[in-house]
Amino acid sequence: MAIDYSQIPSPCYVLEEDRLKENLNLLKFVQEESGANIILALKGFSMYKMFPLVKEYLKGATASSLNEARLIFEEMHCKAHTYAPAYKPEEFDELMSYSSHITFNSLNQYELFKSKVNDFKDPISMGLRVNPQYAEVETDMYNPCIVGSRLGITRDVLGDQLPEGIEGLHFHTMCENDSFVLERTLVHVEEKFGDLLHQVKWLNMGGGHLMTREGYNIEHVIKQIKRLKETYDLEIIMEPGSAIAWETGVLTSKVLDIVDAQGVDVAILDVSFAAHMPDTLEMPYKPRILGAYQTDVPGKHNYRMGGMTCLAGDFMGDYAFDKPLQIGDTLVFEDMIHYTMVKTTTFNGVGLPSIGVWTSEGTFELHKSFGYEVFKEKL
Ligand SMILES: Cc1ncc(COP(=O)(O)O)c(C=O)c1O
Repeated sequence: MAIDYSQIPSPCYVLEEDRLKENLNLLKFVQEESGANIILALKGFSMYKMFPLVKEYLKGATASSLNEARLIFEEMHCKAHTYAPAYKPEEFDELMSYSSHITFNSLNQYELFKSKVNDFKDPISMGLRVNPQYAEVETDMYNPCIVGSRLGITRDVLGDQLPEGIEGLHFHTMCENDSFVLERTLVHVEEKFGDLLHQVKWLNMGGGHLMTREGYNIEHVIKQIKRLKETYDLEIIMEPGSAIAWETGVLTSKVLDIVDAQGVDVAILDVSFAAHMPDTLEMPYKPRILGAYQTDVPGKHNYRMGGMTCLAGDFMGDYAFDKPLQIGDTLVFEDMIHYTMVKTTTFNGVGLPSIGVWTSEGTFELHKSFGYEVFKEKL
C-alpha cells in the first residue's frame, strides 16, 4: 500500500516492509540456487527492528565493531561474522563471545589475537582479508584498492602456506557493482590467491553486490558462485548491505521557510544534509526528491534545498517542481534507508568519543562517555 505521509512525523526515515521483503526474497533465491550464504552487512543497514524478518531469509549478519556484533547477538539471535581494520585489545574477549567468524586485516593482528581465539571456549573460524589490488569503483573514497590502501593483505606479504588456523579468506572490493564486475574481479582474486583458496574452507566475497538493482543479472552471479564452489570446494559467503535495503524507503521532511538568497530561491527544510544525509555530501551524490526534477528546469519552479544547520555547505541544489513550494509542504527524499540512516548514527557501530575537561589544576574530568546503549538507542 502507498505511504500516507499525513500519518508520519517529520523528519522520519520510513522503511516499506513490502519492499524489504521483495529484496530479501530475491536474495534468498540466489542463496538457494547457488548454494552461497548471504549475510547482512550491518554497516549498510542496522535497523534492528527488522532483524527477525531478515533472519527468516538470510543466514546471519556481519559486524564491523563490538557494538554491531552485540546487536547481532541480541537482536538476530546468532553470532556475527566479524571484520574490522583493527581490534581493540580491551574489547576482544567480549567480541569473541558474539562472533562465529573473525577476520583479521593484517598478519600483525592475527599474531596478536590468534592464541585468544584458540583458547576461547567456543570455536571461532579465523580468516584473513586479502587485497586483490583490483576494483572497479570510481570514487576513491569507496575504493578499497587504491594504492596504499590499508584494507587487506596483498599477495606479496603472504607465503605459499597460510598461517596456522586460518580457515577463510575475505575480499571486499566492490561498491554497487554488477555480476560482470564480480567476474572480472575474480580473475584477479584467483590469479593472486587461487593456490591459497585450495587451503581454506570459506571465501567471503564482501559486499557491493547490488543484486536487487533493476537489471542485475541473477543467473550470471549464480553461475559465478557455482563455478567457484566447484573449483575450490569452498563455502561462499557474500555480505551485502546496500542490496538488502536498496530502494526500501524514504526520509520525509517539511519546508520550514522559503528565502530569496540573492536571486536563488532556497527552501529551508527540517532536515540537514550534514546531520541526516552525510553521505550526500561525502560521496557526493544528489538524492532524488519524490515528484521533483533533479535539476533546475526553465519555466518550472526551481529551488535549492537548504538544511537546518548553520553549516554554509549544508544545502543541495537545484531541483524543479511543477507547482511553487509552500511553507509546510512535505518533501520526500527517496532511497534513504541503506547507509544514510546508519551514517546519521554511529557508522560501523564505532563508539563516540568521550567528552572531558583538562582542568586548570592539571587534572582530567570525564564529563561523559558513550557506550553500547547510546549506539543502540539511535537505531
Ligand atoms: C568489508 C565490507 N563488507 C561488506 C560491505 C557492504 O557493502 P555494500 O553495502 O556495498 O553491499 C562493506 C561496505 O563498505 C565492507 O566494507
